[in-house]
Amino acid sequence: MPDSSQPTDPHDPHGVTPAQIEHAAALLDAGELVAFPTETVYGLGGDAESPEAIARIYAAKGRPANHPVIVHLAPHGDPRYWVADLPPAAQKLIDAFWPGPLTLILKRAAHIPAAVSGGQDSVGLRCPSHPVAQALLSAFSARRGGHGGVAAPSANRFGHVSPTTAQHVRDEFGSAIHVLDGGASDVGIESTILDLSRGFPALLRPGRVTPPDIANVLGEAPRLPDGSDATAPRASGTLKAHYAPRTPLALLPMEALEPLLAASPKDERVALVARASRVGRWMAAENVHFVAAPEDPDAYARELYGFLRALDRANVTRIFVEKLPDTIEWIAVNDRLGRAAAAFEAQG
Ligand code: TXA
Ligand code: MG
Repeated sequence: MPDSSQPTDPHDPHGVTPAQIEHAAALLDAGELVAFPTETVYGLGGDAESPEAIARIYAAKGRPANHPVIVHLAPHGDPRYWVADLPPAAQKLIDAFWPGPLTLILKRAAHIPAAVSGGQDSVGLRCPSHPVAQALLSAFSARRGGHGGVAAPSANRFGHVSPTTAQHVRDEFGSAIHVLDGGASDVGIESTILDLSRGFPALLRPGRVTPPDIANVLGEAPRLPDGSDATAPRASGTLKAHYAPRTPLALLPMEALEPLLAASPKDERVALVARASRVGRWMAAENVHFVAAPEDPDAYARELYGFLRALDRANVTRIFVEKLPDTIEWIAVNDRLGRAAAAFEAQG
């Protein structure tokens, strides 16, 4: 498994051969789609400068066409090719966190098709650290005179949980999409998205790179997403109900889950996702399918989408998830769990 904190070697792309990389780059070059691993989640990639390829991405995902997608750059790709202006804050963050799980929203250069940002005047840029992603991006970019970029949302159907393995991608799309298998994603949740297009840093989506990490580099804390800013750009990951499994999921503190577990019918199996340190006797309760959640936020994020997918196949009627501390270190996991639960709140 790749470690996103380590420098990666583009010549050792996790058992994916150079011929497989070239084949995938040729598909991208021809306007086709390729799913590929990144350190966050698997992406569904297409040529970022081809409105037709982007339309294919939207069609495959079943995603509304006004939602922007992230452009992925090769390790030595030039962000300036894509943007109207690269503010000093962006350069500092690039120096600190690229390659890695941070996406920057910047003003889009006039020659970049608006399709990539759903018609908005910005563009989202990210340089992934996964060696297979880097090898693919380098090979594709080389075919475009060093400037190619790959637009890639997470490789799941709209509203579903993002994929963290090649098998997850196959479960979403069957054999319709060509997949490069680079093992399980190390970060496990989508990149941090920071908007720098409005004159101040604003967090649109929390991820492995945290608000304190950003503040340390900028000397200024980013604004946090609070839903009240009407000028905020649209981002599908900021819709309330998103990242949901199919099985109803409730997110409550352990004390609030206990009476629900006690009241759940004995002929029904329910899942309980909780930290072993908090779960008490419910770990062994007869109709409870217990999943021991990691005690550490990064490990929790790494496993989250995998266990949500597994629980959809576990024959349980409900998924009860222990609500985690409301502290900054849990912000990204809380965000994804909150959205998964929001999808079912209307249904009770
Ligand atoms: O970790 C990730 O970011 C993964 C991997 C594949 O790199 N990609 C990913 O893409 O999560 P997606 O499309 O599922 O989510 C990208 C988010 C969306 O919420 C999208 O709306 C937002 O980024 N986004 C992209 N470009 C944007 C822009 N120009 N302005 C505002 N939001 C943007
Ligand atoms: Mg997504």
